[in-house]
Amino acid sequence: GKEWIVLGIETSCDDTAAAVVCSDGRILGESVAKQDELNDLYGGVKPGAARDAHAQHIEATISNALEQAAISVEQLDAVAVTMGPGLELCLRVGFHAASALAVQHGIPFLSVHHLEAHCLVANMFRLASRQQEDPRAVAEDAFQEQAPAIVLLVSGGHCQLIRRDRQGHYEVYGGTVDDSIGEAFDKVARLLQLDVAGCGGGPAVERLAAEWALEGKASSLVFPIPMRKYRNCNMSYAGLKTAVRLAVEKGSFDKGEIAFAFQAAAVKHLMERTARAIEWSKSGAVDSGDHVRELTVCGGVASNQQLRSALQDIAQKHALDLVVPPVKYCTDNGVMIAWAAIEKIERYGLHTLQVDPRGLE
Ligand code: KG4
Ligand code: ZN
Repeated sequence: GKEWIVLGIETSCDDTAAAVVCSDGRILGESVAKQDELNDLYGGVKPGAARDAHAQHIEATISNALEQAAISVEQLDAVAVTMGPGLELCLRVGFHAASALAVQHGIPFLSVHHLEAHCLVANMFRLASRQQEDPRAVAEDAFQEQAPAIVLLVSGGHCQLIRRDRQGHYEVYGGTVDDSIGEAFDKVARLLQLDVAGCGGGPAVERLAAEWALEGKASSLVFPIPMRKYRNCNMSYAGLKTAVRLAVEKGSFDKGEIAFAFQAAAVKHLMERTARAIEWSKSGAVDSGDHVRELTVCGGVASNQQLRSALQDIAQKHALDLVVPPVKYCTDNGVMIAWAAIEKIERYGLHTLQVDPRGLE
């Protein structure tokens, strides 16, 4: 088939990102401007300030990606941009940059669902790794041969268990009833008064837990696993956060001990729900072709090593392939937007997807 080269633009939250990706799975160019300093300053993402930072960096981010790819705008098959969900003020910056580029150069324009892009990017890395084994086999069937998968979408903003079928349809099995797991990590970092500058709450808690585990001390601190009496795929992190606050207030535990116990419970809870999602997908399958064959994880929390090794165990137990994108592509990025657009184009054809952005203003 034809090879597609697509520019993906992402500005839904605090990362200004752009990437040029080819349908064979190669990243031709990518660029990102992060807003970590602003987030440190405001203790989170402040939409107006984030919008201004996007506006300031969007042009350079896009031209960096194109320059790295060493192609001109005219050589692109399409320009794709995140249309949501996300912060409206921020989304607008990406939309305007993408649509201006498309209109000015007469390039097809299409929009991408942010969460779908998180769900699909793992396919790109599966494709890339299989390509090394057998380059010819992959080119033919890469897009048809999609295994149904359970997708774990775990970030600061999202916390869901989704079944993705081979037709590119999604069924949400469950989600958090209160905080996301990423938020819980961030709040625990604050409760423990960790220095999160430049790394964020999740990694700070993970590092502290790992350091404590290395010390090898015994601990009596165990947090209860949430939601056990609800036999569904929903999650809850508010109670766990409260349990952490009470443990901090008690004053008789090490910070590392608390971080470790929190992380253990947070991951265990997620794994119990994931195991149930896998069971659900089995009982709902119509024929063997529909059986879930993969377990995929995306979102910022996917970089957590405890989570990754727990996923490895569960995948092995259920004979599923575990597909985890490199950490860098688990968080918001331009590559996932370009890649999601490429999968859509392969599936539905460019002409059914492209829209005139002038009609959307
Ligand atoms: O996907 P992401 O960059 O942004 C969105 O929230 O959409 O995810 C960021 C979230 C934050 O809550 C952060 O604390 C969490 O992911 N996170 C982690 C780790 N790295 C990032 N949580 C646990 N362990 C980590 N290593
Ligand atoms: Zn995201």
